[in-house]
Amino acid sequence: MSQVTVVIGAGSIGQAIARRISAGKQVLLADLKLENADAAAKVLADAGFEVSTAVVDVSKRSDVVALAQKAAALGEVTGLIHAAGVSPTQASPKTNLTVDLYGTALVLEVFGSVMAPGGAAVVIASQSGHRLPALPPEQDKALATTPVEELLALSFLQPDQIKDSLHAYQISKRGNSLRVMAEAVRWGKRGARVNTISPGIINTPLARDELTGPRGPGYQRMIELCPAGRAGTPDEVGTVGALLMGAEGAFITGSDFLMDGGVTASYWYGELAPK
Ligand SMILES: NC(=O)c1ccc[n+]([C@@H]2O[C@H](COP(=O)([O-])OP(=O)(O)OC[C@H]3O[C@@H](n4cnc5c(N)ncnc54)[C@H](O)[C@@H]3O)[C@@H](O)[C@H]2O)c1
Repeated sequence: MSQVTVVIGAGSIGQAIARRISAGKQVLLADLKLENADAAAKVLADAGFEVSTAVVDVSKRSDVVALAQKAAALGEVTGLIHAAGVSPTQASPKTNLTVDLYGTALVLEVFGSVMAPGGAAVVIASQSGHRLPALPPEQDKALATTPVEELLALSFLQPDQIKDSLHAYQISKRGNSLRVMAEAVRWGKRGARVNTISPGIINTPLARDELTGPRGPGYQRMIELCPAGRAGTPDEVGTVGALLMGAEGAFITGSDFLMDGGVTASYWYGELAPK
C-alpha cells in the first residue's frame, strides 16, 4: 500500500517540507485556491513526486472530512503538513480566528483519526504566538482542549476582547501550539506524533504581503535587528520539518519549535523590545 503525505496549504512552506519527506510517497496537495495547489503540483511532479490535488477550506468541516477520506483512499497517511493560514494583513480578526485557530483545531481533530501508526505531522504556527504575553492558565487550557465546535464561542475570543487582526493572529498561533500539545496525547495512542514549528519571517508570498502592508516597517526592523540579521527561507523550515517528521524525530511530540533568527529573543531581551 502506498504511503501518503498530505499538504494542507500548498504554499511555500508546505511545499518545502513536503519535498524533504516525500520521496517514494504520494503527495496530496490541498489548498483553498486550486491554482496554488496546481502550481505546487507542477513543481513537485517535475521533481519526480507522484502528486494529486484537492480544494479545501480548512474552516469548513465537510471540506476537511472529505480531504481526510480522499487521503485515506490513496493509501496509508503517514505524513501531514498543515501550512494553510492567513496573515494579519490578509484578513479580518474574525477570519484570522476562523482559519488559523478553528481551522487548525479541526484539521487536528479529523486527521487525528486517520493517521497511520508511525505517522507524523507538523503544524505551522508562528513566532507571533511567542510575542503574546503569558495567558492565564485557564485560557491556555481552553485553547488546548475546548471541543472544536465550541472554540470560537470562548468569551476571550469575542470581538470586544480581540483588539485587531494582529492580536487575533497571535492568539490563534499560541492556540495552535497549545492544541498540538493536547492532541499529541490522543495521537500518541495511535502511534502518531504531532509538533508545531513557529517560524519567524520566512520569504514567501504571505510574508511579502506583510512587508508591503501597514506593518511593513515593523517587519523590516525585525529583519534588520534580529540576531540573524536576515529573513529565513522556506527550505530552512523544510529542514526542521524533516527532522520532526522523520525517524530522527521519533522522541519528539507535542512540542513547539521556534525558528525565527532570534526575533523573539530580541523582542524580550534585546533591541526589538517594545519601548
Ligand atoms: N511566511 C512567514 O513569514 C510566516 C511566518 C510565520 C508563520 N507563517 C505561517 O506559515 C503558514 C504558511 O504560510 P506561507 O508563508 O507558506 O504562505 P503562503 O501564502 O505561501 O501559503 C499559505 C497557503 O494557505 C492557503 N490558505 C489560506 N486560507 C486557506 C484556507 N481557509 N483553507 C486552505 N488553504 C488556505 C493559501 O491559499 C496559500 O496557498 C501560515 O499558517 C502562516 O501563518 C508564515
